[in-house]
Amino acid sequence: MNLQIYSTIDNLNSSFTAWLKERLAEKEEITIALSGGSTPQSLFDYWASLPEGAIDWRQIRFFWGDERCVPPDHPESNYRMTREHLFDKIGMSQDKIFRIFGENEPAEEAQRYGKLLQQELASRNGVPMFDIVMLGIGDDGHTASLFPHQMELWESKAICVPTTHPVSGRQRVSLSGKVINAARNVVFLVTGTNKAEKVKEIIGNPEEAATKYPAARVQPESGNLFWFIDKQAARELTGS
Ligand code: 6PG
Repeated sequence: MNLQIYSTIDNLNSSFTAWLKERLAEKEEITIALSGGSTPQSLFDYWASLPEGAIDWRQIRFFWGDERCVPPDHPESNYRMTREHLFDKIGMSQDKIFRIFGENEPAEEAQRYGKLLQQELASRNGVPMFDIVMLGIGDDGHTASLFPHQMELWESKAICVPTTHPVSGRQRVSLSGKVINAARNVVFLVTGTNKAEKVKEIIGNPEEAATKYPAARVQPESGNLFWFIDKQAARELTGS
C-alpha cells in the first residue's frame, strides 16, 4: 500500500496528476474507471485548468466505476458532473467516453455495461482489467456504489451489479469487487474529516474493517493500491 497525505486538495490533485502522467508514459493508451461524487470534481477542475497538451487526453478511454440510475443530464449524474467539469472544457471526443446509461433499467444496464467492458478491455479469466480504477470512500465505508448493507454484491460473480443507496434509496450500477481488484492500479482519492474514522479503521485494522466495509475489501491482486488523502481525512491516522 502506498499512502500519501497532502496538506491541501490542490497538492493532492497535482500529485495524483503526476502519478497519472507516469502511467501515461508507460503505454500508448490507458483505460480508467472514474469515481463519482464531489471529491473528483476538484480533480477534474484541476485537469481542465492545465495548459493545453499537459495531458494527452487522446491516450485515455474513460469509463466509470459506478453511476446513479438517473438520466445523463440529471444533477446527480456522475457522467454529467464529469462532462461539466472536464469533458466540455477539454473538448474530449465522445468516442473515448463510455458512460453507464443511468437512464436504463438498473439490472439490464449492469448486464449491458458488463458486456461492454468485456468487449473494450483485456480480461483475465473473463474479468475485465482496467489500467486504473479511481475510488472514493463514503463516510459509511462504501466505495464505488457497493454499500455495507449489500456486502454480498461485493462478491458478485457479475461484472457490474445494480445496487441501492442505503439512505436515499437511489438505484445505482456499480463495478463488482472482482473487477475492482483485477485492476492494474487502484487509487483511493479521499478528502474531508468525515472520512477520517473510516480511513483509520480500514488502514489500521483491515481484517476487521473488511467484515463491515466494501472499501476495506479493495485489495488489488496486482498489489498496486495507492491512497491519495488530504490531512483532514488522515487526521485520525496522524493524531493531529
Ligand atoms: C458516487 C461515488 C462514491 C463516492 C463516495 C465519496 O457515485 O457517489 O462513486 O463511491 O466516491 O461516495 O463521495 P464524495 O467524494 O462525494 O465524498
